Amino acid sequence: MIIPNGDSHVPDVSIATSPNDLASVPAILKQISAQGEQLSTTQDYDSRLQLLASARALVQALETPRETMIKHIWAQPAVQVGITMMYEAGVFHVMARKNGPITVKECAEATKMDPNLLARLMRHLGSMGHITETGVDEYTPTNFSRAMSLRIIGDGYPCIINGLFNTLSKYGEFTKAHGNKMVLSHTDTPLRYAEKVDMDVFTWLRSLGLGSHLNNHMAGYHQGRPSWMDPDVYPVKDRLIKGADTSENAPFLVDIGGSTGHDIAEFLTKHPNHPGKLILEDLPVVIDHINHLDPRIERVPYDFHTEQPHKGARAYYMHSVLHDWPDDVCADILKNVVAAMKPGYSRLLINECVIPDCGADWQATALDVMIMIEFSSSERTLADWTRLLEPAGLRIIKVWGGKNGTESLIECELA
Ligand SMILES: C[S@@+](CC[C@H](N)C(=O)[O-])C[C@H]1O[C@@H](n2cnc3c(N)ncnc32)[C@H](O)[C@@H]1O
Repeated sequence: MIIPNGDSHVPDVSIATSPNDLASVPAILKQISAQGEQLSTTQDYDSRLQLLASARALVQALETPRETMIKHIWAQPAVQVGITMMYEAGVFHVMARKNGPITVKECAEATKMDPNLLARLMRHLGSMGHITETGVDEYTPTNFSRAMSLRIIGDGYPCIINGLFNTLSKYGEFTKAHGNKMVLSHTDTPLRYAEKVDMDVFTWLRSLGLGSHLNNHMAGYHQGRPSWMDPDVYPVKDRLIKGADTSENAPFLVDIGGSTGHDIAEFLTKHPNHPGKLILEDLPVVIDHINHLDPRIERVPYDFHTEQPHKGARAYYMHSVLHDWPDDVCADILKNVVAAMKPGYSRLLINECVIPDCGADWQATALDVMIMIEFSSSERTLADWTRLLEPAGLRIIKVWGGKNGTESLIECELA
């Protein structure tokens, strides 16, 4: 839309260089001070998140629109590209190994990167605070850049930037070509439009050699967040273990689309005295590439569009699976779960966001937009979940947890 010259609703240009909300700064600072004290006393997760939200509000209030704009469209894309290139070349690993001041020259020699190129990328990461400048062309790693040696933190960058960014940048074009309508279809997708391929996201990423990057990224995404299987979220003993079939071969928990098994391995660690069997299901290409998994967990290559091989489990579990697909595909996946469930005994546990009608957390809204573009699907509200689950023959018993943008546990049974 081109705004005509002289449109009286366009604000005066001075707004571009005025802080966004200077008037709110004293109140935010007071809040920060109180929250800082609270955090130093309790050191707890919620207090840290509250202080972080206030710190973000402070930055936003102090920035001018011009500064915010430059940050969004220059600084952040440059960070994303720089980090991806340096990660792929192994620069963060070299920095972590030295764990003290290191020169650009040393990093370039160790990684075969062009020193002139690396100097410019590192200078930007230094100015953005992701590495610490200690001299001319010399830096030390921060906590963040040290963590970039871990695949669960680093692998998300090539996965998104190299694998999916083209689709993100063409999304506006795709939508315009569809009369500015949101299209949620598993056949007519932004990915197919942008990349001119006939593949879903998983197949596409694997074709680029980024399949394991996605698995590691998923594992990293869940780190450090409250987990549904903790007693203060979902009482596993009362809801699942009590009343479960105790025979050795009875399927207890089936993790459908469980990737390389990080969730079910966590379950085994936290609930080692569970009855029956723990079963991990995913596509053969994923199951075949598992490096480490406790042998007590059964690995089953399985396509969730086919009949569920494990009947009458105490619980079927899906984490970040249904949000990858539009409703019609989810209905097909659910049909196979429902057919395997034992009335009055089996539960379906869906570990996903339940987006609140108001006040959604930024991590959930970010995920929702990424999911809309990359998977033609949605993070769902409670109304969306009910609309999806009821026609499949399921009833939501209770929604557990879900604070601070974390995923809830939607506990269902046969209706
Ligand atoms: C977004 S990942 C979530 C993985 C894991 N549940 C987690 O939360 O980390 C979706 C998973 O669904 C699996 N998947 C995709 N299509 C599948 C299919 N047809 N049958 C079984 N699993 C499938 C993928 O391989 C991937 O591991």
